[in-house]
Formats: sequence, structure tokens, C-alpha cells
Amino acid sequence: MKRILIVGAGGQIGSELTTYLRGIYGHDRVVATDVRECKEMAAQGPFEVLNALDATAMASAVARHRCDAIFNLVALLSAVGEKNPQMAWQINMGALMNSLEVARQHHCALFTPSSIGAFGPTSPKDRTPQDTIMQPTTIYGVCKVTGELLSNYYHTKYGVDTRSVRFPGIISNVTLPGGGTTDYAVEIYYEAVKKGRFTCPVPGDVYMDMIYMPDALRACVELMEADPAKLVHRNSFNLASMSFTPEIICAEIRKRMPDFEMTYDIDPVKKAIAESWPNSLDDTCAREEWGWKPEWDLARMTDDMLEVIRRRFPVEVR
Ligand code: SER
Repeated sequence: MKRILIVGAGGQIGSELTTYLRGIYGHDRVVATDVRECKEMAAQGPFEVLNALDATAMASAVARHRCDAIFNLVALLSAVGEKNPQMAWQINMGALMNSLEVARQHHCALFTPSSIGAFGPTSPKDRTPQDTIMQPTTIYGVCKVTGELLSNYYHTKYGVDTRSVRFPGIISNVTLPGGGTTDYAVEIYYEAVKKGRFTCPVPGDVYMDMIYMPDALRACVELMEADPAKLVHRNSFNLASMSFTPEIICAEIRKRMPDFEMTYDIDPVKKAIAESWPNSLDDTCAREEWGWKPEWDLARMTDDMLEVIRRRFPVEVR
């Protein structure tokens, strides 16, 4: 990758991936785009307002900046997708289809995140295999499975260098996720610091796979830089790092904040989604084909999250 276009750079992943990629490839070589103006990103390097549903505008940005790689990070997440499935399909698939076509026409590599949400209630629950039954029950998951198939199709049919990972819930402290089922595992840290208590929307005993943002960012680059001759799979690799329930993350926070309290106000949509997803993924193929290895665990991540958020909200009552 020499010059990169990021589509949807203002979201949870993009806001950190842009900085990360600029650190590796050079500020001028990473063009951030989003449907909304992002002043901070524009101050760091090239930024353009771009609607990912406008294929002509995307093609023009790739041509003008002579990009050879695209990161398509546009998505409505799982819970918000259930509120407007037609819009979720239009945005998630529209951005992907445009990215695939622009990548084909301009000879770019393409990274698009898939998700644990690509699995459903009929997939094996524990250590879910790389290649298995995928019958998701959310529109988000339907888009992810379709996106994986379409990306593989573009690779075999046209030779487009499409690559992807099935991200666990991503925990981060720069930009909040919006409308996902795993968002609780981000919000819990903010609420712990700001209020000393958290109302959890998903049941206390539901396991889901999670990953800390620094590992997620590294995964993107390591996969895109991997030797293509070693890749048996492409779209999309199971990725695993840590798997926990709300009770487990709560206990981890209490080790550092003994007065922290968690109660429940279950959101039926999030409950159904969380229960339909795997408890944990088997990431053997990612480990074998491109050397994936997570570096963060729940304890270390909790130390880091609390420290960063405390620095940001120093005057709040705890
Ligand atoms: N974090 C996403 C969600 O909860 C899953 O990929 O929707």
C-alpha cells in the first residue's frame, strides 16, 4: 500500500485507523474521507467530504490522489440496522459495491471489515470455525455475509485484491461506536469513570468476542501487508482476542473500583442479537495464514481504558 483512501473515516474505527495508517505510511499518503466534515483529521493530512454512495465521487478521489488501496469502513451497526433495515442494506451494500467497483476499475486493494455478526443462531457457538454455517438473523449480518461473498467474487472473477476480517466487538476510547450490540463494553468504562455505575442493556451471562482497538488496527495492516501467496482465505478471517460477559467485565472494573455498580435494563433487540452471535471464534486460519496474534487481554485493556478516560474526564465525580 502506497497511497490509501479511507471511506467512512469519521467513525469508531476510521478515526483511529487514519492516525495509525498516517503514522506508518506518511500523513500525505492517507486520504481520509467521510460524509461529514472532520476538522481534526483535515488538520493532520488530506481530507475530503465524500458520500460513499456516490461512486463517481469515490472514483474521482482515488484517481486524483493516485490511491492503490481503499479501506471501506462505512456501516450501520447491528442494533440501529434493525430500526431501518432497508436503509442499512442501502448504506452497507451501496458503500461496498461502490468500493469494489472503484477498486476493480482503478486497480486498488480493498479492505472491508466483516464481523462476528456474520454468524447466527445456527452457527456453532463455541470456538466458531472459520468455515461453517452462516445464517445471521440481523440485516447487519445479512449485509456482512453478502459482502464477504461479493468480495470473494470480485477476487476470483476480476482479480481484485480484497481482504477482510470478522471483527469482534471493538473497544476503544477515541470515538464512540453507535448503534452496535457490543457497544455496552465501551460505554461501561465511560460510565464507570463518570458516574460509578452502569445500566447494562444485554444479559449478564451472554458471552461475545471483543478486541481492543490497538489490536484491531494492527490486524488491518498485518492482513493488508500479508504475502498473498500464503492466503487460503480472504473474505473474511475470524479474529479472536478476548471473550467475556457483562458480569465478567463488571468484575474486572470492580477490582479497580470496588464501589462500581451495574444494574440491568435489558434491550430486547440487543438481547436477541447478542444471544444469536457466537460465544467465541476460532482464529486459527488468521494465525496460520498471516501470523495474527492478539496482544491485549481484558485486564490490561481495563487498566488502559480507565486511565485514558480518567484523563479525559478529570473533574467528574467518581
Ligand atoms: N460491533 C458490532 C455491533 O455490535 C458488531 O460487529 O453491531
